[in-house]
Amino acid sequence: MKVEKKPWAALFPCPVVLVTCVDSEGKPNIITLAWAGTVCSDPPMLGLGIRPHRYSYELIEGAGEFVVNIPTVDILKETDYCGMVSGKEVDKFSITGLTPEPAEKVKPPLIRECPVNFECILKKKIPLGVHHLFLGEIISVHLDQNVLDEKEKLDFNKISPFVYNQGEYWSLNKKIGTYGFTKK
Ligand SMILES: Cc1cc2nc3c(=O)[nH]c(=O)nc-3n(C[C@H](O)[C@H](O)[C@H](O)COP(=O)(O)O)c2cc1C
Repeated sequence: MKVEKKPWAALFPCPVVLVTCVDSEGKPNIITLAWAGTVCSDPPMLGLGIRPHRYSYELIEGAGEFVVNIPTVDILKETDYCGMVSGKEVDKFSITGLTPEPAEKVKPPLIRECPVNFECILKKKIPLGVHHLFLGEIISVHLDQNVLDEKEKLDFNKISPFVYNQGEYWSLNKKIGTYGFTKK
């Protein structure tokens, strides 16, 4: 027996990402987002749901560029904090101690403490409702050597990512299958 509920943004779990952006003078900011996901393989694209009154909204729209950084459980506190305060009022890099590193192709910095970073170009913005969808093309990917296996492939076990799940953060670290394992 199942219980029917009113619809809400119920899809779970959601990745937690730290998105970096810059103002017109190049000063960087960080926003924590959970409404994020892959939307296309070729060209590689991702989507972010951002409320229009977020400070980062105008920065990403203004610069047309952003970086998606994948946090690990080691910086859970900093990740939560970047989602609690606005870059309009505080410098999140200096308060959290997170380290900005120059990106290759875009102005917003990578976050050194995040082992995986995607440099993105904003392709399209679609107003949806309280959130607007930002569609970005991934133009460069950075992977920390420490989270790669001997074949230079991402070793998920070494990353310790976490997800956002209906108001809670959950870690995940165990491989339980391989894509297509049921194919005959
Ligand atoms: C775990 C978590 C997930 C969040 N996800 C989103 C999101 O998907 N979209 C959004 O607009 N705000 C989201 N927020 C809220 C923003 O991160 C928060 O309002 C932040 O302070 C905005 O920063 P800014 O004003 O510097 O841009 C999230 C916050 C947390 C802690």
